[in-house]
Amino acid sequence: MPLPVTHPLSDGRTASSPLVRALRGDRPETTPVWFMRQAGRSLPEYRALRIGTAMLEACLDPALASEITLQPVRRHGVDAAVFFSDIVVPLALAGVEVEIVAGRGPVFAHPIRTASDVLALHPLDPAALAPVREAVGRAVAELGGVPLLGFAGAPFTLASYLVEGGPSRDQLRARTLMYADPHTWAALLNWCADVTGAFLRAQVEAGASAVQLFDSWVGSLSARDYARRVAPHSARAFDALRGLDVPRIHFGLGASEFLPAMRAVGADAVGVDWRLPLDEASRRLGGDTPVQGNIDPALLAAPAPVLEAHVRDVLDRGRAAPAHVVNLGHGVPPDTDPDVLTRIVRIVHGS
Ligand code: CP3
Repeated sequence: MPLPVTHPLSDGRTASSPLVRALRGDRPETTPVWFMRQAGRSLPEYRALRIGTAMLEACLDPALASEITLQPVRRHGVDAAVFFSDIVVPLALAGVEVEIVAGRGPVFAHPIRTASDVLALHPLDPAALAPVREAVGRAVAELGGVPLLGFAGAPFTLASYLVEGGPSRDQLRARTLMYADPHTWAALLNWCADVTGAFLRAQVEAGASAVQLFDSWVGSLSARDYARRVAPHSARAFDALRGLDVPRIHFGLGASEFLPAMRAVGADAVGVDWRLPLDEASRRLGGDTPVQGNIDPALLAAPAPVLEAHVRDVLDRGRAAPAHVVNLGHGVPPDTDPDVLTRIVRIVHGS
């Protein structure tokens, strides 16, 4: 099924937006910029709206989720809205008991560690995604020519949370399972791929003009394990979008050693963390792939001239790639002064 004729990429609203053009390999007049975690605790208007509502409850309230999605677009003038949700939302909708604990992250009531744990996981009923579709639809109706970026967690990052039962430093238990019981591992990653793929597809069908797959914890893997035991499942997640022509970004933290493998799972553009300069990232990618990144989040709290020089360096190095979407090398830290983000948008748009 192709994109609906009323989709913003089909009806002329977002097809020539700077974000979509850059992700398709073009160099628009202004370089596009958005920020991972732009909707969130750095914004006082977000903190005010969230009072008294748990994180997952907020994600599943279409009016609230859509309003939070729009807040950073209004405030900063960024080139994309990123859908306010969380990578664990589709797991919760598939019946997994999970809570998002402030300051910590997702915590699971029952970690998934054995073959029978995996067998007991339920598929995601597409009807359960109704609040996601509605929230995306509401946000897209307000956004006009600004594209909404949908996202999902990659199977490895989701599986790490499920196996560990919560955040962990180096995903030891998950990596043990990968070797100790490869069949259970593959079954778990396939389940994650299908659930997260359905979440991604629902956002695109409801109006997202681009997507990003986050593999936040992939940096704990060797390039070899990534290619053999993880990448095929990430490809399966992207494959949920087959037939829908939307640009796809793939971002991993600590993935400098296997950027081409991250592209190869079906991405149009690769997100780079702050560890690798973009000219080198582009070289490793063979010089033909749009890149996204990679302002060091640590510099958001540095004196303005230091940050500005860094942003200009990122822009310069980004010119080595065919196209560049400016972003941070990871999410906005919660204590960031939001005016600093607005200033970065002005620098990038004026460059
Ligand atoms: O603005 C956006 O980027 C869109 C919304 C978004 C959230 N989570 C909202 C959120 C996105 C894209 C995510 C993705 C996500 N969630 C990832 C991948 C990106 C990354 O950071 O690597 C991961 C690993 C998660 C899991 C997760 N959820 C973590 C680690 C946390 C932080 C815990 C904390 O309190 O520090 C969350 C909670 C979360 N997700 C918040 C937000 C705005 C904070 C919740 C709050 O306001 O209390």
